Amino acid sequence: TLEQTEYLINGEIMTWAGERQKVYSPVCCKTADGFDSYIGSYPLMGKEEALKALDAASEAYNSGRGTWPAMSIEGRIECMKKFVFYMKEQRDEIVKLLMWEIGKNYADSTKEFDRTIDYIIDTIDAVKNLDRDSSRFVISQQIIAQVRRAPLGVVLCMGPFNYPLNETFTTLIPALIMGNTVIFKPPKLGVLLHQPLLKAYQMAFPKGVVNTLYGHGEIIMGPLMESGRVDVLAFIGSSRVADILKSQHPKPHRLKAILGLEAKNPAIILPDANIDLAVKECVMGSLSFNGQRCTALKILFVHRSIADTFVKKFSEEVGRLQVGMPWSNGVAITPLPEPNKSEYLTALIDDAKAKGAAVMNPSGGYYNRSFFYPAVLYPVNSSMRAFREEQFGPIVPIAVFDDINEPLDYVIESNYGQQASIFGQDSTTIATLVDTLVNQVCRVNINSQCQRGPDIFPFTGRKDSAEGTLSVSDALRVFSIRTLVASKEN
Ligand code: G3H
Repeated sequence: TLEQTEYLINGEIMTWAGERQKVYSPVCCKTADGFDSYIGSYPLMGKEEALKALDAASEAYNSGRGTWPAMSIEGRIECMKKFVFYMKEQRDEIVKLLMWEIGKNYADSTKEFDRTIDYIIDTIDAVKNLDRDSSRFVISQQIIAQVRRAPLGVVLCMGPFNYPLNETFTTLIPALIMGNTVIFKPPKLGVLLHQPLLKAYQMAFPKGVVNTLYGHGEIIMGPLMESGRVDVLAFIGSSRVADILKSQHPKPHRLKAILGLEAKNPAIILPDANIDLAVKECVMGSLSFNGQRCTALKILFVHRSIADTFVKKFSEEVGRLQVGMPWSNGVAITPLPEPNKSEYLTALIDDAKAKGAAVMNPSGGYYNRSFFYPAVLYPVNSSMRAFREEQFGPIVPIAVFDDINEPLDYVIESNYGQQASIFGQDSTTIATLVDTLVNQVCRVNINSQCQRGPDIFPFTGRKDSAEGTLSVSDALRVFSIRTLVASKEN
């Protein structure tokens, strides 16, 4: 077990003596006296610590002319390299905690760690180019001006449980390297795995530049937002929580929000699609990490002429996915970390069944403790909850279409606008569809699943899916502002 007692504020690692939150793993282990899944605890901090973290971050940004924001890019890069060096030493521990805390399988846990390291290294490379590009001079009407990229201020970073490391760093790293100071709160599921990095922050960055908070968001976020002193809210999670946080700021026009929210990404499988390829991509696209990815395919639209064949092959493939412990070889489906998730997913299935759909794979929807066997629901229609709700779990709703306008209308009417996939072979048809879809979502994938990576690609969404574009160089722009130093030729 990991009894986390330490936190970092103003460069000091402090020990928490107050109330604590127990952490239970979704992975249950059999013990002599039954099942036990207790894996540790973390501090339940309050308003006082939240405001101390805010003071530290504000001070590091503003006082003494702001050592960190005024530091050269080269200086900040050196700090970041130091951080990467210390972080790499924690790989095994963090991978282990990813498996225990959120049930992510070994392959995906190592991938999450390694891609995060790559993300930091790519960010370091990108910031050098951005600096070169931004420091250029512009001359007009006898004014010569240097364009500089400057930081925004104090950033509050909060990441989601499904990528507690990678998605937190998607905002934390660009925010830091651009000279902002940060308060960050890890997600409640996936909090312990941040503990091994505490010393790395302390050793790599000047005091007050990174400050950590743990506890209930409802208790510690309110005072921060209400203070009006948070300049940037970098939040990846639900739109409900994002809206609450934004509304707590007394002057919303002074808050920049950078948000990664929800999605209901569709795949459109055309009559001439390569069915085997579409099945393979859609199984992985909808069920890797149990479908708990914002970029997962969350509904499939299949043309009636191939629907029977597609659904049969798809269901067989889903039936072959191994369900088991995160560390077992070849396991695809692992325990779900969110409390009561199986009940929610069951309600979606029951609703669809009552309205005429069926579960197409024999074990689909069966659950035992936090294990939930993936379910293929077919045929779904607009009367069912699974048609519009973001399931964020191992259920794959499949709808049939006759006319291509049916899936296109779905996308246009959706509250979300992140990504879509098209499977087919006729390039003219695909090009026509792409022309419509690019105006509704932010990435169209041809003959492949939806996904965020490679992480150097721009990543965003429309409507309720996102605000601001992330991923390496875009994120550097998002966490900074162009300023001018202008002088007039007299
Ligand atoms: O949950 C959202 C993640 O950014 C998805 O990333 O598509 O690489 O799994 P991914």
